[in-house]
Amino acid sequence: MRIVMTGATAGIGLEAAKRLRGEADGTLVVGARTPAKLPAALASAVDARLLDLASLTSVRAFASGVLREAPLDALVLNAGLQCSSPRHSQDGFELTFAVNHLAHYLLARMLAAHIKLGGRIVLTASGVHDPALASGVPPPHHANAKALAFPELDQDLDKSAMTAGMRAYATSKLCNVMTARELARCLASDRPDLAVMAFDPGLTPGTRLARHHFEPIGAIFKHVLPLVMRKGPGVSTPENSGRLLADLVLSPDYGAARGDYFAVRGEALERRDPSVLARDDAACAKLWDDSAELVGLPAD
Ligand SMILES: NC(=O)c1ccc[n+]([C@@H]2O[C@H](COP(=O)([O-])OP(=O)(O)OC[C@H]3O[C@@H](n4cnc5c(N)ncnc54)[C@H](OP(=O)(O)O)[C@@H]3O)[C@@H](O)[C@H]2O)c1
Repeated sequence: MRIVMTGATAGIGLEAAKRLRGEADGTLVVGARTPAKLPAALASAVDARLLDLASLTSVRAFASGVLREAPLDALVLNAGLQCSSPRHSQDGFELTFAVNHLAHYLLARMLAAHIKLGGRIVLTASGVHDPALASGVPPPHHANAKALAFPELDQDLDKSAMTAGMRAYATSKLCNVMTARELARCLASDRPDLAVMAFDPGLTPGTRLARHHFEPIGAIFKHVLPLVMRKGPGVSTPENSGRLLADLVLSPDYGAARGDYFAVRGEALERRDPSVLARDDAACAKLWDDSAELVGLPAD
């Protein structure tokens, strides 16, 4: 198998990559901003290449390299970050939106046609996109791509330093779910063979996701919560969520997914309805078209 993956240097993605490298038979291509971060055992078994998702130039260069090579069996768009203070990508977009959504949107747009018959695209999202789950993370106000890319234009901008960063994160994860749905709809006529899915790993302490927050928070999320949090249906470990992410790529159970949303529930995956806004087809299509404009592509 030939698989391209982002976010394999740490956390959930690292655990998934340990499983996927065997299946990929030496052709697990890992896009990473610091390929040297991969543990030695994995680094020698994968094809690690430079990819900084905070730069659309880097995304295009990475995808162009992949396009010059053999077609793929799967594309796994797992990387993500949380920011505690306003930051911008190299292209001037709000950083969380740029890395978590726009860069992955562009990768999916550039590489979907390069996936073999019956192949798969998986986008890692999160349950925090859904206000109904009352996760404690401030939920999205909307999925207006231009306002998310340029918060100074956002009439509904969260101006609180306490909540703005996490709301931007939840909103970027909403964009992942909506992109999976709209991608599946766009592919339905030309590539109905491709499986597309969004993945919610569940609350997974023990990763480095909280590293850009106030120092103790990142350390507590990485080192303390895994020890003190009781295992429950909505609480996972990097190993468990990584295993289930690899299942979405490999197991025949998920080959029929067409924009479906799967959430970790204990040791298994459960197909769920995403949030009300994520199920709004017109909003998904608008996010798609506006994202195309932002990355300089035609809408379809
Ligand atoms: N942990 C949770 O509770 C949880 C819950 C729901 C969803 N998720 C989602 O799960 C995914 C993995 O998160 P995690 O918890 O495993 O976090 P993590 O340990 O911080 O891993 C994040 C990965 O994304 C990569 N990444 C970040 N910014 C990048 C950039 N500019 N260019 C290239 N790669 C970049 C990181 O690379 P570096 O090593 O270079 O930083 C790392 O490989 C994310 O999409 C996250 O939103 C996590």
